[in-house]
Amino acid sequence: MDWQTLQTECTACTRCELCTGRTNVVFGQGATDAEVLFVGEGPGQSEDEQGLPFVGRSGQLLDKYLFAIDLDRKKNCYIANIVKCRPPQNRDPLPAESEACMPWLREQFRLLQPRIVVCLGRVAAQRMIRPDFSVTKEHGQFVEKNGVLFMGTFHPAALLRSPRNKPDAFADFAALREKIGEVCQHTYKE
Ligand code: URA
Ligand code: SF4
Repeated sequence: MDWQTLQTECTACTRCELCTGRTNVVFGQGATDAEVLFVGEGPGQSEDEQGLPFVGRSGQLLDKYLFAIDLDRKKNCYIANIVKCRPPQNRDPLPAESEACMPWLREQFRLLQPRIVVCLGRVAAQRMIRPDFSVTKEHGQFVEKNGVLFMGTFHPAALLRSPRNKPDAFADFAALREKIGEVCQHTYKE
């Protein structure tokens, strides 16, 4: 399976109920040779309208954090979500919805073969790292699984609601920059 085929198939997906409320499937965005993968929860209103991940207010904040550590979604990282269609009223995805959608993310992961996966918020971290992961207690810690480093940090929307956590989030991104320097081959080259 190549990227184009995967995106075409995903865009037509009706594996769960969320397909009924969507305007667009939000497949993901970024460099297809990215070594760093960011995973959010699911599309919000702006994302559903535009078909791109993190393009609303929380996306603008995410882009600032990316910029601060020389990452750019157009050049050297990739952004995806646990569910590709917007949950109604931005509620958390139901376990059955996340389960139904995970094969798309697994296939993105398989094509990318990232060195580092950054989980944005509890929903992504609990799905990708550990079901009882606590962002408050464990943010910024890297854990290795099968040669890939996983880290969980605050969701940008949570930072907009609780700006007091911004320094901690910023420290997580600084730690990410260090880790990229250690384990990535070309993220900071050219
Ligand atoms: N929040 C998410 O978790 N993902 C997006 O793509 C946008 C907002
Ligand atoms: Fe398919 Fe995922 Fe959308 Fe559900 S959320 S319809 S599984 S793409």
